[in-house]
Amino acid sequence: MTRKKITVVGAGNVGATTAQIAAGRNLGDIVLLDIVKGLAEGKALDISQAGGVYAFEGRVTGTMDWQAAADSDIVIITSGMPRKPGMSRDDLVAKNTEIVKSVSRNIAHYCPDAFVIVVCNPLDAMVYTAAKVTGFTPSRVMGMAGALDAARYAYFIADELGVGTADVRAVLMGGHGDDMVPLPRYTSVAGIPLLEWIDREALDRIVDRTRKGGIEIVNLLGYSAYYAPAAGAVRMAEAILRDSKAVMSCCAWCDAEYGIDGAFVGVPVVLGAGGVERVIELDLNDQEKSALAESASHVRELVAQVEIILADS
Ligand code: LAC
Repeated sequence: MTRKKITVVGAGNVGATTAQIAAGRNLGDIVLLDIVKGLAEGKALDISQAGGVYAFEGRVTGTMDWQAAADSDIVIITSGMPRKPGMSRDDLVAKNTEIVKSVSRNIAHYCPDAFVIVVCNPLDAMVYTAAKVTGFTPSRVMGMAGALDAARYAYFIADELGVGTADVRAVLMGGHGDDMVPLPRYTSVAGIPLLEWIDREALDRIVDRTRKGGIEIVNLLGYSAYYAPAAGAVRMAEAILRDSKAVMSCCAWCDAEYGIDGAFVGVPVVLGAGGVERVIELDLNDQEKSALAESASHVRELVAQVEIILADS
């Protein structure tokens, strides 16, 4: 059986960590691409040598040449400017639209059958950019945010309650921004509804910390998170490659679901060999619906900026 091929675009912190985790989980051959001379090659060599310690099967290749990525099964876009302290994700829109546009043209040319997982920010608008420029069917283009935001939410809940993180099934949706929508009503700990475990004050504190989870790390490090974002991207790639029908939130195309009429936004989905195989529609209450509508309208504002940038370039 031929091994699957995963291309990771961008060999910075998120990209290199994504390549390392994907190699360690034996997802296939990994191609790490970057425009900075020596960067992808050096990181790939280092990751490959780790394979001599804990064995993995795939090859990890670092390159500046898109030809090496040809016919990838999955392309993960991590390239783009990261946030610095004082910046919001939205401040990155102009620069990162240009970068995602150029990467997406290469994907359409070299990897016409690939699934595309976008990781760079502002996430939902960059997924839109990748879908528009590649022209791929929307079920093949998605964004990694729900896996990360839900993992943060799950971690904070587990920490508060003193239970294992793996037992927390956290559900959230909306855009990858401060107005994301954690859903305590749909979150459980080992099947027991979260609201039976926790009081309102603690829950509000956790929801607020989850919404600000990215900036908390930017403020500590001076640059943005990468271990958990990379883990989230690999989880999505693995669900597609192994056809595991995993249920998680990701930024996916909504045609009518949740009353969202044609936009990429974070929603619970089933991920498998067909990419986003299904959007799961939860029965939201009025407050949850209006929080989602507000988040989706923020995404639309960013997409309008993307449209202007794409039209000008
Ligand atoms: C974060 C960045 C990756 O949430 O958006 O950490």
